[in-house]
Amino acid sequence: MENFSFYSPTFFEFGKDAENNAGSLVKRFGGSKVLIHYGGGSVVRSGLLDRVKASLKASNVQFVELGGVKPNPRSGLVYEGIELCKKENVDFILAVGGGSTIDSSKAIAAGVVYDGDFWDFYMGKTIEQALPVGTILTIAAAGSEGSPDSVITKEEGMFKRGASGDAIRPRFSILNPALTQTLPAYQTACGITDIMAHLYERYLTNSTEVEVTDRMIEALMLTLVHEGPRVIENPNNYEARANILWAGMMAHNNACGVGRSQDWNSHNIEHELSATYDCAHGAGLAVTMPAVFTYVMNHNVMRFAQVAVRVWGCQMDFEHPEVTAKAGIKCLQNFLIALGMPKNFAELGANEKDIPQLVNTLCYGDGRTGSISGFVTLNTDDCTNIYKLML
Ligand code: NZQ
Ligand code: ZN
Repeated sequence: MENFSFYSPTFFEFGKDAENNAGSLVKRFGGSKVLIHYGGGSVVRSGLLDRVKASLKASNVQFVELGGVKPNPRSGLVYEGIELCKKENVDFILAVGGGSTIDSSKAIAAGVVYDGDFWDFYMGKTIEQALPVGTILTIAAAGSEGSPDSVITKEEGMFKRGASGDAIRPRFSILNPALTQTLPAYQTACGITDIMAHLYERYLTNSTEVEVTDRMIEALMLTLVHEGPRVIENPNNYEARANILWAGMMAHNNACGVGRSQDWNSHNIEHELSATYDCAHGAGLAVTMPAVFTYVMNHNVMRFAQVAVRVWGCQMDFEHPEVTAKAGIKCLQNFLIALGMPKNFAELGANEKDIPQLVNTLCYGDGRTGSISGFVTLNTDDCTNIYKLML
């Protein structure tokens, strides 16, 4: 196990009707004037926004609103949010929605207290200071409710990039599984896929002797394998929703990623797809992961064989561990397809002719110098081959 520091100060309020505590939680964490930030309207239609406003009013917390966050959130609305917060003297950002809304909120929170262009953080500058952020989560997926990360797409060039810093870890996150019951099956499946990816990206490590985090990751993967089909079959299954919701948080606040190197090549390769085609991040990952894993499998075939046996129930072939490893990757892909996820470029809406452009932005965009690194370092030829495996 490697040395590590871990700071994860988010307060979680989990369960039925938890959103009614929004007002008291904002107060508890120092907010007096709130920006309520939300997406394309699901929280309006479900009545959640009204309940949140009522809760803020009951606690005498003032607020202004900014809706309109798109999936794969854009820089334009972030600039708008920063201006609004400055003008209105906002001191707390409340994200009501999914990972996109939370990420946009984190970007605004960092931008309000920064003299320069907030995009500096998405070019690699660590976020040291931000307004406090609270979240009311409506989809189990990105894990942004507990993570120190935010992913934004810059409209000029459609660069999708991440920024990080403990300052943008939410002060509190409200997790009510019932709020996720209105999700369309496709979005639910996208979320489960993203959570699975966050687990694989950590599982694929070059560190050794990481038994505790290996086992935690496997437990969360097994939970998804059990609960995923149950929730697709019955979207109102509260208990399955609850387990997936907490798994999503646990997968990505990094409790199970400490002390080990991590991968993130699948995420980087996917981000070009969701930036270019505006597909859902999870759908992009469903196509990306099997291709990346097949391509890099021989780097550490026993790691892939281990997850195949422990999570997917494959029989270990000691003479030919690559057979076991491959079987595990196939099980993952079949699991995702059964949830309703795409399996190739065509189903995703991606186009073979764009591969050179995808590879170019991936490997040279925003200061990269011809490769991406993770479990394996991948150059432009590798990335081209991986995208071709997705055809
Ligand atoms: O915009 P609204 O109308 O709210 O609709 C959303 C959106 O269309 C809808 N939705 C959410 N909750 C719903 C609902 N519809 C009905 N009922 C509900 N309860 O679902 C759609 C997707 O929402 P979005 O917020 O985009 O989903 P997700 O949470 O998957 O977030 C995806 C974004 O997070 C980034 C991704 O790259 C992507 O941009 N990520 C952020 C990470 C982080 N900050 O730590 C890590 C992840 O790896 C990921 O990269
Ligand atoms: Zn993700």
